[in-house]
Amino acid sequence: MKRDEGLLRAHYGEPPADIALEDIDLGRVPSHVSIIMDGNGRWAQARGLDRSRGHVAGVDALRETVTTSVRLGLDALSVYAFSTENWRRPQREVDLLMHLFATTLVKELPLFHQENVRLRFLGDLSALPRRTHDVFRQGLDETAGHTGMTFALAVNYGSRAELTRACRDVAEAVVRGELAATDITEGLVASHLYTAGMPDPELLIRTSGELRLSNYLLWQLAYAELYVTDLMWPDFDRWELLRAVRAFQERDRRFGGVVGS
Ligand code: IPE
Ligand code: IPE
Ligand code: MG
Repeated sequence: MKRDEGLLRAHYGEPPADIALEDIDLGRVPSHVSIIMDGNGRWAQARGLDRSRGHVAGVDALRETVTTSVRLGLDALSVYAFSTENWRRPQREVDLLMHLFATTLVKELPLFHQENVRLRFLGDLSALPRRTHDVFRQGLDETAGHTGMTFALAVNYGSRAELTRACRDVAEAVVRGELAATDITEGLVASHLYTAGMPDPELLIRTSGELRLSNYLLWQLAYAELYVTDLMWPDFDRWELLRAVRAFQERDRRFGGVVGS
């Protein structure tokens, strides 16, 4: 995808001392970056605020991450916003998040138009409240013709549910006689996942210092490079994204091979 160094510089402004734009090789950015946006609640609690304020503050970090990702020329950015396990939270927090997803999407649609960003969703949207579901559908329809970066929002997403659903779909095709068991390849399985058609993430970022995947993209992350930052999600910004990309570019990705081959 097209990278624009001038625009990038204008967008970034003056960097902090530990990172320079020159540190990033714009010809070698990961095609797909995925982020587990974690730590909203702790960010708020540390300031004596309600957890909900952390979720609201997290929207600003996400907006900055989307625009920076476009400037970097990523093909895809995906973010984990609500897991299949997050339904266990207090009803009030779940309601607030669902409301926040809907109002934010309505508010940010002009940005997606301006940046030519195509939206998609990962997860089972049928379980979402009616309004959230309707707004998501509207976002999908309105950005379907966009040809720039894909922005995938994982909502009511869980890897185990996704893989179980894929197994069921494939088994049904076999029962209908459309497929033989020997036709089941890795590519076929991948085509039944919510991420069908997207490149696998090359870089996974998790904020708030937690060292786990929390049921996120278990299949797709098979060879992703991992970058964990202690920043809470609302404090994540363009510079931390650049630090993650720089760390990615310093890694030696072997894919099971031998160093230097
Ligand atoms: C991430 O922040 C947002 C969601 C999971 C919706 P958290 O709400 O998990 O914040 P912490 O981890 O409790 O601080
Ligand atoms: C993972 O964060 C899910 C999202 C960021 C949406 P959690 O805060 O739910 O994960 P755990 O519970 O710490 O593993
Ligand atoms: Mg958390």
